[in-house]
Amino acid sequence: MKTVARRSAGTGYSMCVQPAFIIGTDNEDGTPNFAPITWVSATCEGGNDYLLVISMFGGKATKQNVLRTGKLSANLVSTDMLPLMDYFGTRHARDGKKDALAYAVSRGERVDAPVLDASPWVYECEVKQAVQTGESITFFCWIKNVQIDETVSCRDAFDVDLTQLDPVIYSGMYHSVGKRLGRIGDYSL
Ligand SMILES: Cc1cc2nc3c(=O)[nH]c(=O)nc-3n(C[C@H](O)[C@H](O)[C@H](O)COP(=O)(O)O)c2cc1C
Repeated sequence: MKTVARRSAGTGYSMCVQPAFIIGTDNEDGTPNFAPITWVSATCEGGNDYLLVISMFGGKATKQNVLRTGKLSANLVSTDMLPLMDYFGTRHARDGKKDALAYAVSRGERVDAPVLDASPWVYECEVKQAVQTGESITFFCWIKNVQIDETVSCRDAFDVDLTQLDPVIYSGMYHSVGKRLGRIGDYSL
């Protein structure tokens, strides 16, 4: 195994690489709102009770909407959705409806929140707990339903082939995924 010569870079390089999600919420007037949020992770309460963990900074409408309704959708962003994500992420609901690009919206099947029809993988969520740290709020959300593109074969949570979902990976810049490298255990002795 190689050895890498690293430099200490301070604390500002908080790269947290992950697939990008667009969060769908309802504005106070009932119109849908969408914004990319990439601080998304997961934890497990026990058994199959997974929680989606989503962190939002500042005073954005998406955060206020989640605090008010307790409901949201998390729509995985495939690379064909990149212009839409870039648009949603550079506009604020408080400045007007985000309707310069065309996109279709449905309601969730188990959670009454707006969902993007273009997304291949959608979590329908309700907030269990909100934790404030400084100017951020982290929402621990019950996953009430997962919608998966019918054309994507996926037997369980360990059988997700990201090359089929083709997500945008965000590190501060936008990327796509490379090759599928195997499964847990493929590399052990
Ligand atoms: C690629 C991308 C990722 C983002 N990730 C986050 C995030 O994880 N948390 C956050 O609070 N804001 C994040 N943002 C910023 C919001 O999407 C942005 O402030 C948006 O305009 C908020 O819209 P709203 O005011 O309608 O809620 C991200 C933006 C982009 C473009």
